[in-house]
Amino acid sequence: MKYNIRITKVKESHLSEVDFNNIPFGRVFSDHMFVVDYKNGEWIDPRIEPFGRFGIHPAAMALHYGQAIFEGMKASKSYDGKPMLFRPERHAHRINNSARRLCMPEIPEDLFLDGLHALIAIDSNWIPAQEGSALYIRPFMFANDEFIGVRPSESYKFFIITGPVGPYYPKPVSLLVEEKYARCAVKGGTGEAKAAGNYAGSLLPAKLAQEKGYDQVMWLDSNEFKYVQEVGTMNIFFVIDGKIITPALDGGILQGITRDSILKIFREKGFQVEERRITIDEVAEAYKAGKLQEVFGAGTAAIVSHVSRILYGELLMELPPVESRKYGELAKAEINGLRSGRIKDTHGWIVPVKSPVAMKVG
Ligand code: COI
Repeated sequence: MKYNIRITKVKESHLSEVDFNNIPFGRVFSDHMFVVDYKNGEWIDPRIEPFGRFGIHPAAMALHYGQAIFEGMKASKSYDGKPMLFRPERHAHRINNSARRLCMPEIPEDLFLDGLHALIAIDSNWIPAQEGSALYIRPFMFANDEFIGVRPSESYKFFIITGPVGPYYPKPVSLLVEEKYARCAVKGGTGEAKAAGNYAGSLLPAKLAQEKGYDQVMWLDSNEFKYVQEVGTMNIFFVIDGKIITPALDGGILQGITRDSILKIFREKGFQVEERRITIDEVAEAYKAGKLQEVFGAGTAAIVSHVSRILYGELLMELPPVESRKYGELAKAEINGLRSGRIKDTHGWIVPVKSPVAMKVG
C-alpha cells in the first residue's frame, strides 16, 4: 500500500443485526467507510472511519450544480471463503472518465484501489456467502465548495461505502419503450459518465412507466427515438435468430463493465455477437416473426436480469419463460461462477482483496 490510510474502527459492529437471508437492496450499510478530501489541488487525509452521517454546508456546490459522480461494484466471497473484487481497476478507470467529463479532479487509481482494498478487508465479514448476493460497493465523489455560482468546485469529497445486497431484480423485469422523454444522457452529453444527474433525469419517466405496471424504461436515442440505448439500470441484450445483439457504445451509453465481460465470454464461446445500432422496429419485427428469443439486461447491480415483456406503443412483446432462456442463463452462470471462484478466471478479472498490513492504524 502506497498511501497511509488512517483507520478508526467502530466500537461495536452491527453485523449481527443483519438478516443475510433477507437483504433489501441498498438499505443495509457495513460498519466502515473510506473518505478522502481534495483541497488546494491535492487529495489529502485518506481515512477509514465508522460509517455514519457527515456535515455538509447548504451551499456545497454538488447540491446546486450537480457535480456528483459514482461507481457501482461488488465484492464476493469465493467458495473457499476468500474476499474477491471483480475488475476493480476498470472501475477506478471509469470513475476518472466520469470525473473528466464533469470537470472534477481525477482520483489516483492507486489511491482508489488502496482505499477499496483496505475497506473491504476490514469489512470482509459483511460479504454475503449466498450465490447471487454480494457486498455492493459504492464509490462516489461530489463538489464541496461552499459557493453559489456556476463554475467547477475547487474542493471535493470522495467516499466508498458498502452494504450487503441480494439481487437488484429478484424476478424478470418488464420494460416500457420510452417515446416521449429523452435521457439527459445524449451523445455528446454525459451519457458515458456515471453522473448522478443522469439518473435524476430518468426518474419521472420511470415513475410513469411504473404507474402503467412496468418496472423500468427502455431508452431510445434522443434525436430520432429510433435506436435502442439501454435500460435506466442496466445495458440491454437481444437474442434474435441465434445472434446476440447489444447497442454499440455511441457516447450516450454507459460503458458497462458487466456488459463488456459478457460480450467477451460469449465471443470466446463462439457465439455470434453483434455490437451495433439496433432500432426498436427491428426488435418489434423480430418479435412478430417469432425470432426474438431472449432479452436480458446486464449491470453490476442487476448482474444479468431477464426481461419478461416489453411494451412498444400498442405492441406488447411477451418473452418466453425463464426456463427456456439459454443465453441469459449462461451469462448469469458465468458471472456468478467467476465471482464464486467455481469458474476459472482466465482473464485476470477476479482480484483477491489485499490484506491491510502496511497501513497505519490511527
Ligand atoms: C450499478 O449497476 O451498480 C448501478 O449503479 C445501477 C444502479 C441501478 C444501482
